Amino acid sequence: MSGVFKVTEQQLKKVDSILENSERGDLIPALQKIQEEIGFLPKEIQVRVAEKLNIPLSEVYSIITFYALFSLKPKGKHHINVCKGTACYVKGAERILQKLKDVLGVGPGDTTDDGLFSIDVIRCLGACGLGPVITINDKTYARLKPDDIPRIIAKYKDMGTKDFEAVTQPREATV
Ligand code: FES
Repeated sequence: MSGVFKVTEQQLKKVDSILENSERGDLIPALQKIQEEIGFLPKEIQVRVAEKLNIPLSEVYSIITFYALFSLKPKGKHHINVCKGTACYVKGAERILQKLKDVLGVGPGDTTDDGLFSIDVIRCLGACGLGPVITINDKTYARLKPDDIPRIIAKYKDMGTKDFEAVTQPREATV
């Protein structure tokens, strides 16, 4: 696993403070709070939760993997939302998502191993007339075709730590 997914001592302290007054029956609410604070629930945190609440690690893991709201990895530096609302769906959102999966090697709810990209599917971005639509961080890309995806992803890869505002796209739109 890449170092970008490592949990810091400070984060573990936060986990401990959340678990301080929690009991075995508080597993799901405790995991929700930790997810809100830390953003993801990797092995180190699962072990901590299992120890503090006296629950088998396998039980903690199965709860995390059962509920879609829990994530084993942090969001990527560039987070992609793919709209699969009705309007975008009929205009080819599924083909856009498939292309993103092909290019990045991960699907919805997952993050690339280098920590650069993560994908989620959402229901309507409020730009239905411009579908299919995705957002990357705070930018919206509209009327996409699958062939647009490699070029857009390549720009974000090239950016490294440069300002995201530097990205310009012909079909970019703000909603
Ligand atoms: S359905 Fe995609 S923006 Fe509304």
